[in-house]
Amino acid sequence: ASYAGLTGAKIGFRPVPPQMAADFDSVVVPEGYKAQPFFSWGDPVVRGASPWQPDASDDWQSQALQAGQNHDGMAYFSFPENPKTHGLLVINHEYINPTLHPNGFNSNKLEDGSIQRSEAEVRKEQMAHGVSVIEVKKSGSQWEIVKDSRYGRRVTAQTPMNLTGPAAGVDLLKTASDITGKRVLGTINNCAMGQTPWGTYLTCEENWKNYFVNRDPDDYSSRREHHRYGVAQGLNSKNYAWDSVDARFNATPDESQRYLGQVNEPNRFGWVVEFDPFDPESVPKKRTALGRLVRECATVTHDEEGRVAIYSGDDTRGEYVYKFVPKGRYQRGNAAANTDLLDEGTLYVAVFHEDGEGEWRALELGRYGLTPRNGFHTQADVLINARMAADIVGATPMDRPEWVAVHPASKEVYVALTNNKHRGHKPDQPVDAANPRKDNLHGQIVRWREKNDRVDATSFRWEIFLLAGDTSDAGAPEHLTGTINGDVFSSPDGLWFDPQGRLWIQTDYGDDDAQNANMGTNQMLCADPGTREVKRFLAGPRGCEVTGVTTTPDGKAMWVNIQHPGLSYPASDGKTRARSTTVLITKTDGGVIGT
Ligand code: FEO
Ligand code: CA
Ligand code: CA
Ligand code: CA
Repeated sequence: ASYAGLTGAKIGFRPVPPQMAADFDSVVVPEGYKAQPFFSWGDPVVRGASPWQPDASDDWQSQALQAGQNHDGMAYFSFPENPKTHGLLVINHEYINPTLHPNGFNSNKLEDGSIQRSEAEVRKEQMAHGVSVIEVKKSGSQWEIVKDSRYGRRVTAQTPMNLTGPAAGVDLLKTASDITGKRVLGTINNCAMGQTPWGTYLTCEENWKNYFVNRDPDDYSSRREHHRYGVAQGLNSKNYAWDSVDARFNATPDESQRYLGQVNEPNRFGWVVEFDPFDPESVPKKRTALGRLVRECATVTHDEEGRVAIYSGDDTRGEYVYKFVPKGRYQRGNAAANTDLLDEGTLYVAVFHEDGEGEWRALELGRYGLTPRNGFHTQADVLINARMAADIVGATPMDRPEWVAVHPASKEVYVALTNNKHRGHKPDQPVDAANPRKDNLHGQIVRWREKNDRVDATSFRWEIFLLAGDTSDAGAPEHLTGTINGDVFSSPDGLWFDPQGRLWIQTDYGDDDAQNANMGTNQMLCADPGTREVKRFLAGPRGCEVTGVTTTPDGKAMWVNIQHPGLSYPASDGKTRARSTTVLITKTDGGVIGT
């Protein structure tokens, strides 16, 4: 097999330099382009929402109708009548910062050493998680957010949703609050996403484990659903201590042991959540057939006959890359055939062999040791414990799999492996061909081609597209030296192909870490899959991560997210609190972004 890696999409802009200044507080794009703040934390979303208060005095009820924080993956959905000028923008809100409150987090330490949060703050934090749906429209030459749109919607950490698919209703998904095992409140830590050809949005639950605690060490060590995913032990959850005011985040079994209490609540997170952004009343569905991960993304591809594949990274050091192939086929215009397509299918995990061959091993009860002897009695056991199932079938531990992108024409698949300081140190993470650098602080992008270009293939050919890091003449030590043909960067995270086949790479690194000194602030770059040439398109404000990108179908409007800027962006006045922001990028001549 070859890596055709189509060249052809024009990449014509003059790259921007890295932004080195400690006080850089803006977004820079190439000459001939314009970047404008478009949608920031606190902006109105749902009809009747109030405007953002700069002193963060909005209460949780206001926050519930406004944009959340930490904008991440997003997608543009066209209205069929005017696809290029009218759409819905759907945006994940991954987590929250202390800026959410007037004076940061207000936490009391109790006598037993645990943290006690206030209910009002926790409520607001829960409302600042999830997803926003906004209606956007181009009138004249300007894009704007439609005010009081009927489509305006916030999905939060308290939105009622359903669990569907093979694990729905099983004992491991039942709690004291939901004896059906089929109804759950909310979604959290929504990082990247997917967009289906049948018009739904897939939002992915990434570091949900940091929101739960199991205070019982014996129970914890015996419960693979907790320890294999890193649910916290000790007194509080790792993040925010919601457990101190909202009992469902305390996953310690009830003392009586007669009832499970909320011990299974963590099992109800880590899924792909599907909903229809055009129906504000639609109840989101957590699709258990895709397995439970610390899930970065759910990138969808399909072939002419309607076969579908969905790729996901599990973003933790030494975790795996997954593919889900639905049993049925996508049928254009046949809603009934597509609505629950994601409830049945096969979940695979990737093995990257040393010689460039790759295999997809099915996580199916009865195969590759997924048997009762190894603790798997049902397919629900496999899906809820997908990580442990993947361990048993011999998946390749990777350097933190983040986004996956599929080339629109060649169907080549690219995955960002962001970095992994444990590589070559932990016995279960030896240096190998796909993860070739010990102390891997810069990460790499790996790509593959499915056998016979079939989305449902069970084998593939892979290679390294690039190793991130400084180029060799920068004098960096070998393990920090990359193979980038062009502008340098570290820690690729967001990865997305535009409709014409340009690969957009977004970074997430510490912009004050010594090894990133030559790279400046976090950035978005554009790569040619054929020549592998990389050009820096955008540099973000100090302290931010750049994540989430989408365009209109004609490629003439692009939105990019600036997550957790460190200074005062988007006001950029040196005093207003910083806000995560969706930035609108256009070309001043009205052309296609990137050309
Ligand atoms: Fe939320 Fe793996 O980035
Ligand atoms: Ca990410
Ligand atoms: Ca990241
Ligand atoms: Ca982030």
